Amino acid sequence: MISTSDEAPAQQGGRAKRARLAAADEHVLYTGMYLPEAPGAIPVGLLTLGRRGVTEYGGFEYGRLYRARDSAIALNPAFMPTGMATFNFPQRRLRDGGALNLTFKDCLPDAWGELVLRYENNWKPLSAEEMLLKTNENRVGALVFSPTHAMPSASPSTKRVRLEDLAEAARCLAFEMEVPKALKRLLVQGGTLGGARPKASLVRDHALWIAKFPAKGDEVDVQVLEACTLRLAGLCDIRVAQFKREPLQQINALLVRRFDRPGMVKDGHRIHYLSAAAFTDSPYESNKGSYVGLASQLRVHGSMVSRDLPELFRRLVFNVLIDNTDDHVKNHGVLHSGRNLYELSPAFDMVPQLSNLGYMGMAIAAGSETPHLDAVLGVAGHFGLSRAAATTTIKRIREVVAGWKTVFVAEGADDLLLRRVEHCFKEQEKIVTR
Ligand SMILES: Nc1ncnc2c1ncn2[C@@H]1O[C@H](COP(=O)(O)OP(=O)(O)OP(=O)(O)O)[C@@H](O)[C@H]1O
Ligand SMILES: [Mg+2]
Repeated sequence: MISTSDEAPAQQGGRAKRARLAAADEHVLYTGMYLPEAPGAIPVGLLTLGRRGVTEYGGFEYGRLYRARDSAIALNPAFMPTGMATFNFPQRRLRDGGALNLTFKDCLPDAWGELVLRYENNWKPLSAEEMLLKTNENRVGALVFSPTHAMPSASPSTKRVRLEDLAEAARCLAFEMEVPKALKRLLVQGGTLGGARPKASLVRDHALWIAKFPAKGDEVDVQVLEACTLRLAGLCDIRVAQFKREPLQQINALLVRRFDRPGMVKDGHRIHYLSAAAFTDSPYESNKGSYVGLASQLRVHGSMVSRDLPELFRRLVFNVLIDNTDDHVKNHGVLHSGRNLYELSPAFDMVPQLSNLGYMGMAIAAGSETPHLDAVLGVAGHFGLSRAAATTTIKRIREVVAGWKTVFVAEGADDLLLRRVEHCFKEQEKIVTR
């Protein structure tokens, strides 16, 4: 049992004591969540992570008072319901990904955030619990972690930061250059969100945004390509995160408004978020995740099923047509929308990979990883669509995608990008219909 702030210290139970007495190689973290009705994070339960040699073990226990709250949100509706108090994670070797389940793995940074953290830590790698404690402010969703019962105040700084400075700091790190001293703080403050590409957080118009920057090895302007693609997706009736391209002196930055931080930054609201990996229990490195799997979880735990299933189908058709092989289980997610129900988050990170590899990042259905329109049509029923309705949707999206050039030109694509996309879409048309 853990205690909420309105519980007398004398009533604090054995778990709190356990947090203090954890063995040297065992760590107990208080897990907190921002609930819609409360201004700060509320303690939810205790996360334990320990190591025996190269193997990690762990588990989670909801606090009794949290479970008793009318407004308690399960960390994961299907796999960590509040109806159960404790969850033991299967032991796993650290090199195989460690013990954390996918709900908590969603809270860890990815390649870019890890790079920022190691940079801050003099290149020493950090353990999962260290990373959980250091990324409260930026992480997607509403979960925070603390070594004590006191919940961290995880509101990002509202101080205005120059986008040029953020871009320069990210450039130095991404391209293995010395980061100027004055810019170091910026990286650490805002660079630990998920994903592999260089990015940082910034406050614009009192709201929180992500700024995405070039990565080493980019063959084209990926920020412009992403902006163009999001614009095109919007024309296909896909809800996309609000975005804007921002030209800087040397590069373009892509700004994307955080959909898990509604309202003004100073109000500190956060919405609980689960990636499709956690929501469908599909490990990142497995090929278990699929559009059909996501649709079937939304049928059970969705608040907007009749809106979201056809929309998910449109996203599938769109990603198939544009060669988005990077369409993996962390590039889809759901937002809590009240009473333990979820809606599809706005779409994000939709980018043609320009490689026509002929596979899907997230399968169409289990075992169906080849992007083909017949396969897409074959699963329409899972999205609540008749064959006729699905055929109309596919036709409409193909027409919009066929008119991509006008959209891309208007969004600032240069000749090189236009040539690459033209070639890619032509090849993809052959792949999806052959
Ligand atoms: N608009 C948004 N609001 C809130 N969270 C977001 C938003 N866009 C992305 N995220 C979160 O940030 C993570 C990284 O963002 P994104 O996928 O755009 O980065 P990336 O580096 O291009 O990713 P990848 O490694 O897939 O290429 C996402 O997985 C998601 O959890
Ligand atoms: Mg991504």
